[in-house]
Amino acid sequence: MQNTSRTIVVLGTGGTIAGTAADAADNVGYTAAQLGVEALVKAVPALAGLPLECEQVAQADSKDMGFAVWRALAQRTAHHLARDDVAGVVITHGTDTLEETAYLLQRVLAPAKPVVMTAAMRPATSMQADGPQNLLDAVTVAGVPGAQGVLVVLAGTLHAAAGVRKAHTYRVDAFSSSDAGPLGVVEEGAVTAWRAWPQGEALGLQWLPMEADAWPQVEIVTSHAGASGALVRAACEIGVQGLVVAATGNGTVHAALEAALLEAQDQGVTVWRSSRCGNGRVLARPDDMLPSAGALTPAQARVELILQLLTPSV
Ligand code: SIN
Repeated sequence: MQNTSRTIVVLGTGGTIAGTAADAADNVGYTAAQLGVEALVKAVPALAGLPLECEQVAQADSKDMGFAVWRALAQRTAHHLARDDVAGVVITHGTDTLEETAYLLQRVLAPAKPVVMTAAMRPATSMQADGPQNLLDAVTVAGVPGAQGVLVVLAGTLHAAAGVRKAHTYRVDAFSSSDAGPLGVVEEGAVTAWRAWPQGEALGLQWLPMEADAWPQVEIVTSHAGASGALVRAACEIGVQGLVVAATGNGTVHAALEAALLEAQDQGVTVWRSSRCGNGRVLARPDDMLPSAGALTPAQARVELILQLLTPSV
């Protein structure tokens, strides 16, 4: 049956898209998360008159993203998606941890409507502000009939949550989908999807603890020249439940670090290997003693491990 719902809900969480600087030429010395989501929408003339609703879920620099905001965002997103009159949800977010939030929302909600995350690499006050076009593109994608899943749109490129990662520190086209490639493009208001919309089974909101300190503690350690096992042993002492190693190359780990990780695994800590390469997957080998996190970035592998620790029976 044709979906005739039209309202698009825009949830604000902060980020550079809502950031301001004293000087319009300053694209780095700004303060993130200063403008409310209604102001962001009002700054885009092409959004005037559309059936949009705004809600401020958080106002954060996304480097400070945490479990309480994740829980609230997942809950508010699910709430609006369940409304018959809502076609889709747009989320404005900081770029720095967007890949983590996108991954979490896809795994928890696996929405049958579009949830389109967007952000900006330049503050709202910049003479090169990219936020307004990104927001317009996100609203456009959220209104596409048949679109579904958690999506990310920046710089006219559409990504699926599962493979997206921030791949550049400064350029407006900062996101990549690694080997899978982008899902599509948004050009002059036209959305072209080259691949199927994301699908999957929702884990369900009920698994996300209300209390931030009830979430499992999973830390990321990096393998590098001269690595030691000191951080891993310290993590075990404070009772960490999971560790993700950002390994070199195809998941290789410095011998000293690997010895500590194997000790941790023997003590019951779940240990996964991802790669710090930024692209590609960790291909399993027959003699692997620590499981591979596949194509997930270290940050996304941490989210997946947290979810697996929260949902042992799923
Ligand atoms: C943030 O992640 O909140 C700040 C950086 C950005 O949005 O680009």
